[in-house]
Amino acid sequence: MARVAVVTGGTRGIGEAISLALKDAGITVAANYAGNDEKAAAFTERTGIKAYKWDVGDFDACAAGVQQVEAELGPVDIVVNNAGITRDGTILKMTRDMWEDVIRINLGGCFNMAHAVFPGMRTRKWGRIVNIGSINGQAGQYGQVNYAAAKSGIHGFTKALAQEGARFGVTVNAIAPGYIDTDMVAAVPADVLEKIVAKIPVGRLGQAHEIARAVAFLCAEEGGFVTGSTLSINGGQHMY
Ligand code: CAA
Repeated sequence: MARVAVVTGGTRGIGEAISLALKDAGITVAANYAGNDEKAAAFTERTGIKAYKWDVGDFDACAAGVQQVEAELGPVDIVVNNAGITRDGTILKMTRDMWEDVIRINLGGCFNMAHAVFPGMRTRKWGRIVNIGSINGQAGQYGQVNYAAAKSGIHGFTKALAQEGARFGVTVNAIAPGYIDTDMVAAVPADVLEKIVAKIPVGRLGQAHEIARAVAFLCAEEGGFVTGSTLSINGGQHMY
């Protein structure tokens, strides 16, 4: 029977590319999304991949969402924690809500999803958890204390959970994308983005499929010896 994967934030941007790459690898994919019903419906129509709506920042919603996916598609073997938001601003302008929303969704989402799937993976002695971190969690970024803290937290979370999963056949890895051509990056003011791209040695933004390819590798059957690793995919912008 085909493996089943949940990709959070899986209907748009990097998540959409990941959903498609896993489907191409013969995996049954459930693409989670939080808000945009119209885009999710168009995604399902285009790809044939079923979309499931819940907020990854909500612990109980993650448990219920995983339960629904398992009832419809079978046990979840793979989770890609990709869902994330930005609420950029210098600390002087950052409100408590901007801080809490980013920590709750970007970092809390990883905990909530892993908590929901880990017992089943442990029992079945096989699992793949891939967390999407960020260059800005490795290097920091002006105007992103919330996002950098959450993404940096994801890198620590990955290494800790990898140690817990290893003896049960559950691998846990992170990918740290640089600046990828998505709606999220397009929201950065043009003059600021121009300066950032000027510092990327390969001279361009990354493409979502360049991240997705690496996720598919980490989720493969042959990926069993790769755990606790962070793969930086950033065009040479930060060599870490
Ligand atoms: N280092 C040092 N100083 C900086 C700076 C930097 N990198 N960037 C800006 N400044 C300075 C400015 O020169 C300015 O100084 P003066 O007041 O002396 O002129 C001051 O800081 C204020 O700058 P802004 O006018 O830009 O401030 P703002 O409040 O209008 O905007 C900001 C601040 C929201 C952070 C804006 O600069 C911004 O959007 N920056 C981009 C943040 C970013 O990279 N986000 C990534 C989103 S994509 C993503 O996160 C995906 C991923 O994983 C990579």
